[in-house]
Amino acid sequence: MTEVKKLFIKTYGCQMNVYDSERMAEALGAEGYVTTEIAEEADMVLLNTCHIREKAAEKVYSDLGRLKPLKAAKPDLKIGVAGCVAQAEGEEILRRMPLVDLVVGPQAYHRLPQMMEKLGEGQRAVDTDFPPEDKFDHLPQRKGRAAPTAFLTVQEGCDKFCAFCVVPYTRGAEVSRDPARLMAEARALVERGVREITLLGQNVNAYHGQDWTLARLVRELAAIDGLDRIRYTTSHPNDMSDDLIAAHGDVEKLMPYLHLPVQSGSDRILKAMNRKHTAEAYLRLVERIRAARPDILLSSDFIVGFPGETDADFDATMDLIRAVGFGAAFSFKYSARPGTPAAEKTPIDGELADARLQALQALITDQQRAAQAAMVGREVGVLYEKPGRLPGQMVGKSDHLHAVHVADPEAKVGELVRVRITASAPNSLAGARL
Ligand code: SAH
Ligand code: SF4
Ligand code: F3S
Repeated sequence: MTEVKKLFIKTYGCQMNVYDSERMAEALGAEGYVTTEIAEEADMVLLNTCHIREKAAEKVYSDLGRLKPLKAAKPDLKIGVAGCVAQAEGEEILRRMPLVDLVVGPQAYHRLPQMMEKLGEGQRAVDTDFPPEDKFDHLPQRKGRAAPTAFLTVQEGCDKFCAFCVVPYTRGAEVSRDPARLMAEARALVERGVREITLLGQNVNAYHGQDWTLARLVRELAAIDGLDRIRYTTSHPNDMSDDLIAAHGDVEKLMPYLHLPVQSGSDRILKAMNRKHTAEAYLRLVERIRAARPDILLSSDFIVGFPGETDADFDATMDLIRAVGFGAAFSFKYSARPGTPAAEKTPIDGELADARLQALQALITDQQRAAQAAMVGREVGVLYEKPGRLPGQMVGKSDHLHAVHVADPEAKVGELVRVRITASAPNSLAGARL
């Protein structure tokens, strides 16, 4: 019987890291670790990091700095850095941060047990390989009752090389997982109580496992009894194939919400970003998607202040936002990332970029509120995810991914109910169960 030790994991970045953190907890679970929410009581602290913007990467170093007193008080404490900063910086992290014991890249963490052995012998360990085997096949099976919603990584890596982005370097080339294994993993999730699966990938709609497309995978998943909702993220406009658009029209379990990053509305900037499509092409694509599923809610990502962005370029982005009408969006000030082509270019003025970001976010907030207000009076499905803060209240996501609060004292987490939306608050909706 192995001794029980405690593991604290902090997750930064995207949903793929959330999924990976769960898998790492399982890999270390087989080594006798149970997870804890309290860093102070941990025997191992693992930071699952993000390298996408400078702020995200620097946060990791300041968090590591804050672990110093903990390590001083408990010299046996092991500290690990996983994820995209680990991949990008590797050994450099050990040099800069003597308190770090382990550095593991996002494609190598199924080797954590071997790395832990090295740590046990008092050594430090680094693994940033891209091994050919599927890391997920080398991890222990998941057991026990699960939350009603789950992530399932189906594709990793990216071959698109947008000029600003580190992902192709930190996650490597596009790799799709075997569809039979994904179907088995999805069935196992449903047996454990999962009712909604979100398929994940850096470019999820580039999925091409064996001869399956993402549309085929969605259709096959929809045939699983007990699985009620399917979502996927993040997609690239150039990989929105006809069969996937069609699936939005005729697969009832595919939810009417799509995150479709466009980054900019200026053709000049899109070209400089190496996005390989125009603003017009994006607008036409949106039309086709809405023709298939008229009530679909769209969200997007935007970068403002890309090198060379003029007022006219920024206006074009604002025009595109007005033309589409988004239900939500994430927007970021451009951050130069080491090793990317855009980092070679002269940055634009920081204050100008801040002002543009504020203007863009104000417009998006207006659109988000309008999209929420338009839901009032409508009947939607809501999957209860947790009890609300008020007694007898439940909180869940609507079909359109809005958080909805419902007074429903008898209900249980995991119930999928019909709700009439009654009011819209700044970041959520209220509804009454039908
Ligand atoms: N694969 C996805 C997004 C991955 S990163 C896609 O192609 O859309 C998530 C978002 O972070 C991106 O959509 C982009 O808006 C933002 N982002 C990526 N690199 C960035 C950078 N260097 N500076 C600012 N934002 C960036
Ligand atoms: Fe990054 Fe572009 Fe790939 Fe998205 S498509 S992960 S933004 S390189
Ligand atoms: Fe960040 Fe890596 Fe995800 S850089 S956004 S954690 S793929």
